[in-house]
Amino acid sequence: TLLIIDFGSQVTQLIARRVREAGVYSEVVPFQKAEEALKRLNPRGIILSGSPASTTEIDTPRAPQAIFEAGLPVLGICYGEQTICRQLGGEVELSDHREFGRAFVEVKEASPLFEGVWDKGSRYQVWMSHGDKVTAIPEGFRVIAASSGAPFAAISDESRKIYGVQFHPEVVHTPDGARLIANFAHKVVGLKGDWSMAAFREEAISRIREDVGSGRVICGLSGGVDSSVAAVLLHEAIGDQLTCIFVDHGLMRLGEGEEVVSLFRDHYNIPLVHVRAEDIFLSALEGEADPETKRKTIGRLFIETFEAEAEKLAADGRKAPEFLAQGTLYPDVIESVSFTGGPSVTIKSHHNVGGLPERMNLKLVEPLRMLFKDEVRALGRELGLPESFVGRHPFPGPGLAIRCPGGVTRDKLDILRKADAIYLDEIRKAGLYDAIWQAFAVLLPVQTVGVMGDARTYDFVCALRAVTSVDGMTADFFHFDMDFLGAAATRIINEVKGINRVVYDVTSKPPGTIEWE
Ligand code: XMP
Repeated sequence: TLLIIDFGSQVTQLIARRVREAGVYSEVVPFQKAEEALKRLNPRGIILSGSPASTTEIDTPRAPQAIFEAGLPVLGICYGEQTICRQLGGEVELSDHREFGRAFVEVKEASPLFEGVWDKGSRYQVWMSHGDKVTAIPEGFRVIAASSGAPFAAISDESRKIYGVQFHPEVVHTPDGARLIANFAHKVVGLKGDWSMAAFREEAISRIREDVGSGRVICGLSGGVDSSVAAVLLHEAIGDQLTCIFVDHGLMRLGEGEEVVSLFRDHYNIPLVHVRAEDIFLSALEGEADPETKRKTIGRLFIETFEAEAEKLAADGRKAPEFLAQGTLYPDVIESVSFTGGPSVTIKSHHNVGGLPERMNLKLVEPLRMLFKDEVRALGRELGLPESFVGRHPFPGPGLAIRCPGGVTRDKLDILRKADAIYLDEIRKAGLYDAIWQAFAVLLPVQTVGVMGDARTYDFVCALRAVTSVDGMTADFFHFDMDFLGAAATRIINEVKGINRVVYDVTSKPPGTIEWE
């Protein structure tokens, strides 16, 4: 294991990504828990992240002195380099100009960090983002690369295997950065790089068996990638000790409910309870136009419905379920380092099963909690899940209800489902599905006048949305060819009764959000 100590940089997760891409298992811990993690994980090497803090201030975080005493290989990035210098006897000063963006470093000395990637005497592009700068390096260190703004752009003490870089190798704007991080993991720390999804699958299965024993597990299935992969993995580990509950709220896309049932029940033979709760959800949503109320209603009903089904299972004559499985991912688990404190504003209350385990007095099983989204996809492929499930765009818990601004009715949902299916069909046919993070139709509560076959129409407007994104936190609208949009619009208007106008949403996030509600 490589341990990544997080000092609060925005891009710490990317370090973990790069290390894992190099086939080495890594975990991120906030600096406050670094001491404990050192004992627990017994890591072979350490990476210190960047930070918005300044080492020139007294109370800012430091790396545990124990890592230097233990003689562990260390790579400090940006703030990480600065804290190494501070802690080992160098000097860091507040600089009057921030260096931000693209820069070039010249390699001064050969080093295992650069092996096969950077040659002595050559110049390479890197990404800088720092205010402070190192002004004197500790004894035993040498400069191995320098830039005009950062004379100590990369430093090392090769005998102690301690490295510091002022630039950010984890971001794509440092084109060779991933290979430098791989060099640290393989050549400096000496880890082999044989961590793979096949290995993870085996480890995860034995861990689940150990944790669960002979207990029964229930798992909420939504049709999304995360819960699907979690369910198949659990089933492989514990077979019929697993029961999946699929709460079908009637807000799914065209054919989606049946697909989930046929894949999991018929193909995988996983015990599956299909709860047809459309009537309950739609009658509760009737006449409700406020987005937050809609979200909260759906969240509450989901929990109540799920709970009721779980209680039925507890009374089916077998052992009562003790565990609740969730498809929680690593980005939700990594504790964020906060310097400002204070609550952030709620933009939307997300619908998930948070709070369920406490309410139901169940223990949690989260077999995907150490994985990133694309790793979950890779695991899904490893488990033989069809590409249509593994590669699918994210779909929000409250489903089509939040893609029908205003009141939701059965008729509107039917119209929306048809338009959405045509739009996605066109996207797939054009070979664009995988280039897009998320694409969907929205049915506006607005009617406009049109003319079709000499007759006046007065029907709804359908908005099309497509965005690219890395994590859903920010997004850009997708740049379709106008001919594509024209063709999709024509098909929707011709084939879907109830829609006579189509518009395309060209709002990015921020200031928009991906979903309309
Ligand atoms: P927004 O609309 O906030 O969405 O830009 C960001 C991402 O989150 C998805 N989303 C949800 N996912 N439960 C979910 O599981 C929710 O309540 C929810 N609301 C939004 C959205 O589809 C996008 O991928």
